[in-house]
Amino acid sequence: MPKLSIRDLDVRGKRVLMRVDFNVPVEERAGQNDITDDTRIREALPTINYLREHKAKTILMSHFGRPKGKRVEKYSLRPIGDYLHTLINQPVAFSRDTIGAEPAEIIAHMNEGDVVLLENLRFQPEEEANDPKFAEGLAKLSDGIYVNDGFGAAHRAHASTVGVTKFVAQSAMGFLMEKELKYLHEELDNPAKPFVVVMGGAKVSDKIGVLKALMEKADTILIGGAMANTFFKAQGIPIGASRVEADKTDLANELVDLAKQRGVKLLLPVDVVEAKEIKPGAQIQNTQRLSQKHGIDEGWQAVDIGNATVALYQDEIGKAKTILWNGPLGIFEIPDFAEGTFTIAEALANSGATTIIGGGDSVTAVKQAGLADKMTFISTGGGAALELLEGKELPGVAALTDK
Ligand code: 3PG
Repeated sequence: MPKLSIRDLDVRGKRVLMRVDFNVPVEERAGQNDITDDTRIREALPTINYLREHKAKTILMSHFGRPKGKRVEKYSLRPIGDYLHTLINQPVAFSRDTIGAEPAEIIAHMNEGDVVLLENLRFQPEEEANDPKFAEGLAKLSDGIYVNDGFGAAHRAHASTVGVTKFVAQSAMGFLMEKELKYLHEELDNPAKPFVVVMGGAKVSDKIGVLKALMEKADTILIGGAMANTFFKAQGIPIGASRVEADKTDLANELVDLAKQRGVKLLLPVDVVEAKEIKPGAQIQNTQRLSQKHGIDEGWQAVDIGNATVALYQDEIGKAKTILWNGPLGIFEIPDFAEGTFTIAEALANSGATTIIGGGDSVTAVKQAGLADKMTFISTGGGAALELLEGKELPGVAALTDK
């Protein structure tokens, strides 16, 4: 069912409550939290600026980290409000409370076009409990208009994503939410073929749902990352000291069988880069073509896909019209082990296909490779992107007003 869009709302002069996902990565430097990747904040700007230009009074709310229902100063959103100020070139008022007298007072003094940010929603246990009283308290801050642009949190059924919608007249998608659904849902529902999926990451068990769902649509699936080791083990290929989910070989076999049934080309690395230790400068070597006889050496660990695999995967990527990538193909955080992941990122960038990067570490990898602006779409969601790709309904989307 199509959902109401921000374009359908009359927001002029109205108090609009907007859920964003400002849960950005930070690093503590000199006792202060520095934002290391501001993408989620920047991606919310089109909606924030639209509301400003249309003379709404915008009340922003988000979670940040997992403070578990308590006020934890390092998870305060205040520095993020200050940062937003620099991006929109306009002061962002800050409310230390999320509901009640303090935000009500601040909001009462807002002019048209002003922006307020509420403190971290997760300082209140009622947020994650989806408490109706808390949700009503949030809704009361608005003139009955709610916009959800926090795609990254749309898989959580919390007070600010679901509960609040019961207490407002209109709940609409923001531009980022629309864009995420367009690429991760609509575009991948009926992808231009051949559709190639590049799936990496550490655990098969994390990706089983999404791989099963993608088997319905993909022509080719390229596997990488530590997840591949579980497939190797299932096939009797020695894996040395590599990271593995030893008890999940049945899942790997299940996926291989499913691919056969569906006529999907499921490719595993034919060789890997192996290292003695997981640290910069460690001794590394490219294995032979992997087989039951020639596996990963004893005491060595797979840390990247090998040269022959890179060539094989480049070839498949070159044939694709649509490519979805989720999860790195090796330990790219260590430059010595990053070549496979970065070369595949380049192959995507030069493919001419629609390229969709589905959240999490693969996004970081694409950014580190300096190729972010060469991709068609990069999701801001981690868990939310995976759940959507699995075909699950996101509660934060389902709760919005039907068109
Ligand atoms: C994320 O970073 O994936 C979202 O902000 C959701 O955060 P959460 O997993 O703590 O709910």
